[in-house]
Amino acid sequence: MTTDHQHDVLIIGSGAAGLSLALQLDERLKIAVISKRELEETNTYYAQGGISVVLDEADTIASHVKDTLDAGAGLCDEETVQLVVENGPMNIDWLLKGGVNFTKDDTASSSGGYHLTREGGHSHRRVIHAADATGKEVETTLQAQIMARPNIEVFEHHIAIDLITSERSEKKQQKRCYGAYILDHESGHVETFRARFVVLATGGASKVYLYTSNPDVSTGDGIAMAWRAGCRVANMEFIQFHPTCLYHPEAKSFLISEAVRGEGAHLTLPDGSRFMHLFDQRKELAPRDIVARAIDHEMKRIGADCLYLDISHKPADFIKEHFPTIYSRCLDFGIDMTRQPIPVVPAAHYTCGGVMADHQARTDIAGLYVIGESAYTGLHGANRMASNSLLECLVFANLAAKDIHALDTETSEPPTLPSWDESRVTEPDEEVVVSHNWDELRHFMWDYVGIVRSNKRLVRARRRVDLLQREIVEYYSNFRVSIDLLELRNLVDVADMIIRSAQCRRESRGLHFTIDFPYLDDRVQKKPTILIPEGYCPF
Ligand code: FAD
Ligand code: SIN
Repeated sequence: MTTDHQHDVLIIGSGAAGLSLALQLDERLKIAVISKRELEETNTYYAQGGISVVLDEADTIASHVKDTLDAGAGLCDEETVQLVVENGPMNIDWLLKGGVNFTKDDTASSSGGYHLTREGGHSHRRVIHAADATGKEVETTLQAQIMARPNIEVFEHHIAIDLITSERSEKKQQKRCYGAYILDHESGHVETFRARFVVLATGGASKVYLYTSNPDVSTGDGIAMAWRAGCRVANMEFIQFHPTCLYHPEAKSFLISEAVRGEGAHLTLPDGSRFMHLFDQRKELAPRDIVARAIDHEMKRIGADCLYLDISHKPADFIKEHFPTIYSRCLDFGIDMTRQPIPVVPAAHYTCGGVMADHQARTDIAGLYVIGESAYTGLHGANRMASNSLLECLVFANLAAKDIHALDTETSEPPTLPSWDESRVTEPDEEVVVSHNWDELRHFMWDYVGIVRSNKRLVRARRRVDLLQREIVEYYSNFRVSIDLLELRNLVDVADMIIRSAQCRRESRGLHFTIDFPYLDDRVQKKPTILIPEGYCPF
């Protein structure tokens, strides 16, 4: 049995990017928002530090632009950076009008009464936040508004499998996206969603690594779907490792916000001594690539399982007021951060690359947009500056909404689409193949394509990924699809893109560090790494 759905706009993803777009689209448009688990189960929900924006009178757009360019190590697209930073205040204002409760500070008249915190790479206090649970406040506020909109239909526990596009005609017209096949994983049926505009807002791919700060949804689905459909993908070698995730056997994916360092925490070795001054004059507030590499280096040098983050020199009330979530989560594991250092390790955190998008969030396929962490807009270059991600989600959601409105009247209904064909598949015979391959992939990506890379490690990883890709294609063609299989298929495609991009970059820059080419090569390598899919033709 198949079900056909018809909407004006199909938005795949319910994080900051997807929900902001849905809310900014005209209420006359019929919109579907797809979420592969519960609506709020997104990276956005877990965001801690905040959103970077120029609000303080002493701060400037030029300074935010410069800091972003510096963190991006020469690979940011300057026009994109300017566009995003300039649009920041307007988008924060939109959140405020929608009821998002950012932390106030009565003494901060120069920033409109909002407390601004500081994070790595920022030369000013410019991160607006809701204590240490900014994402939860943003996500739940947007979600409440979504539920009150009759034109928005929400589909939870639905996972998009693949995009449906036109074939490229003999006249080499641009391909067009008509919708997507989507598995309702409660009923087990694959449904056809048709739409005039399709938007990927599916987040990042950090689950491709064994250790990550991300929730389980971050399996790079949108990037893999767009690639298979024929979109170019850029800068996938730049995976950001957050320096400080809680190190505890039972603490899956818990982040210790960079804002803790912003408010004065020190990184220390097990004997309590500081070390960041040996790596960068900005010490704990150097950009993330530098801090994560320094921690990795020190852990390997002394053979430690973790290092420590210590803010216990600050008053206990200050810590509890600024970091209530982190304080209470650490306490759950018997760590009182007001009295003792927190054990920390780096973990995969953010996908700087993604599906190539222009300044309207358009991709290479007509009618297909990409926003948020799945997109490559040029904002982050070789290393994203802290708290620029939620900002990018908001700005590009707004730009995509404007473009969809501009094209609305001239965009006609998609044709009737074929239903999903399950006639040749059977029930899976050995689920263990899928779970084993998940584990294998995440282990070798961590070991061979992690914080420090080498030619040899990349070749090893490439060999394994090739094998997995073949095995998965065979499994996928013969057996009924499941969420685990679909995610694995996407993760393997994304792993392949990360490894290939890393092999193309024969230098060390930003988040990509290889012992075989340990230096920057501005003469040859100062450009994004663009992967071009088979059959791609430019317009
Ligand atoms: P997400 O919020 O990740 O949402 C993705 C959505 O896509 C989900 O709804 C998911 O279900 C859906 N989806 C995915 N695949 C499919 C599919 N195949 N079918 C259907 N649905 C699908 N950034 C900052 O700027 N400031 C911070 O303070 C900050 N803190 C962070 C803390 C943590 C712990 C983490 C993990 C990230 C943090 N980041 C922060 C990064 C930031 O949160 C994310 O980059 C941002 O939230 C991404 O938003 P998004 O809307 O693109 O995707
Ligand atoms: C954090 O709070 O450290 C995360 C901020 C970010 O990823 O931008």
